[in-house]
Amino acid sequence: MTTNRRYHITTFGCQMNKADSERMAGILEEMGFEWSEDPNDANVILYNTCTIRDNAEHKVYSYLGRQAKRKHEQPDLTLVVAGCVAQQEGEALLRRVPELDLVMGPQHANRLKDLLESVFDGNQVVATEEVHIIEDITQPRRDSQVTAWVNVIYGCNERCTYCVVPNVRGVEQSRTPAAIRAEIEELGRNGYKEVTLLGQNIDAYGRDLPGATAEGRHLHTLTDLLYYVHDVPGIERLRFATSHPRYFTERLIKACAELPKVCEHFHIPFQSGDNELLKAMSRGYTHEKYRRIIDMIRRYMPDASISADAIVGFPGETEEQFENTMKLVDEIGFDLLNTAAYSPRPGTPAALWDNQLSEEVKSDRLQRLNRLVNVKAAERSQRYFGRIEEVLVEEQNTKDKTQVMGRTRGNRLTFFTGDINELKGQIVKVKITEVRAFSLTGEPVEVREAVTV
Ligand code: SAH
Ligand code: SF4
Ligand code: F3S
Repeated sequence: MTTNRRYHITTFGCQMNKADSERMAGILEEMGFEWSEDPNDANVILYNTCTIRDNAEHKVYSYLGRQAKRKHEQPDLTLVVAGCVAQQEGEALLRRVPELDLVMGPQHANRLKDLLESVFDGNQVVATEEVHIIEDITQPRRDSQVTAWVNVIYGCNERCTYCVVPNVRGVEQSRTPAAIRAEIEELGRNGYKEVTLLGQNIDAYGRDLPGATAEGRHLHTLTDLLYYVHDVPGIERLRFATSHPRYFTERLIKACAELPKVCEHFHIPFQSGDNELLKAMSRGYTHEKYRRIIDMIRRYMPDASISADAIVGFPGETEEQFENTMKLVDEIGFDLLNTAAYSPRPGTPAALWDNQLSEEVKSDRLQRLNRLVNVKAAERSQRYFGRIEEVLVEEQNTKDKTQVMGRTRGNRLTFFTGDINELKGQIVKVKITEVRAFSLTGEPVEVREAVTV
């Protein structure tokens, strides 16, 4: 064991990984380690990895190579690979990078202390077996003091033909409403103002929990959960992500419209605007169904902002099918769209098909889609011009220290002049004076003191 106890974590991938990293950082701090911004000053380095696309995985190997070299000069350095690459590669990762001390899948994040103790006893450890995730026992070390993530469902039971997530995150495991509420109450007591409930398919929440109503509906749905946690004192805003179109119900939409703390922003990936491709992807809905969901959201909440994910260049995608995606994007008008070129992933069905497209076709379609996304997002931003928006202040603007930054209820990043020490965690009414595709600038009109119920 070393005397200098400093740790560094680099996190790749999605919000699920970020939330896991915060919990693992909490465990390390409880063990007496201190955060080190510079990995070269740390003696425990943890990479929390992502394997959703080929390039995400490559990034990990290049970071890891550098630290593995360092380990030859500094044998007491502990190298950990956590997250989705760890789960996917398991033992194979040790053969590739023998300097590693610990390889641990995402379901083992809460067990970091035991795993590290075994490493300090001299073992090289691989923890990738499928387990029942233990309830959080540790205080996460959260990056923000204003907004926080709360996992509500782990894993994924879908089998989209392109996706590694079910292989690396396991089957769905919902936390109990009581455990979720307890975590949110603690956040409220500690001054947090906004909570984002997290899950790969968050609207599938609860179907693995026992209990059903007389009509056969699950007792614990996301809708029920929103009602159940809505009155937690101190928490002013609730968000949730990511939603799957298959599980997005009118009942959920009504609840969002009715509950004042639930923000009018919905992240609902559609992946493709073409029904044949949606079928090949095994998504379980049509583009018509997707459009109906968005229409219904806008009927109940006309100003709601909508974001999504889309994939271009899926195996067999014709120019015409790609244009159906362009058409959907043009017609819906997303506030934000995460786009990606299809990347064949090991262990997924679509990777083995022989109708793969060339990199040229994929990157050409990606560029065309991105151009359209920028135009549409800029159009959507226009509606904010001159309006007064409620902004929850999170941080100083790192590029202009005279400004603070926060988000509107619709999740638009917003900057305005102000002192972070005074405004952090406050909801400020801001008049929007400048609009860009993905952010806004404004002038403060009124600070609302956060009311604690
Ligand atoms: N559970 C969410 C998405 C999780 S993965 C859902 O079903 O919508 C995040 C995003 O990565 C996906 O929405 C998809 O757009 C993208 N993605 C997943 N696998 C991919 C692959 N093989 N190639 C390119 N993009 C991929
Ligand atoms: Fe992947 Fe599909 Fe599960 Fe989303 S729903 S995580 S895209 S398998
Ligand atoms: Fe990546 Fe794993 Fe998230 S593969 S996108 S970090 S679930």
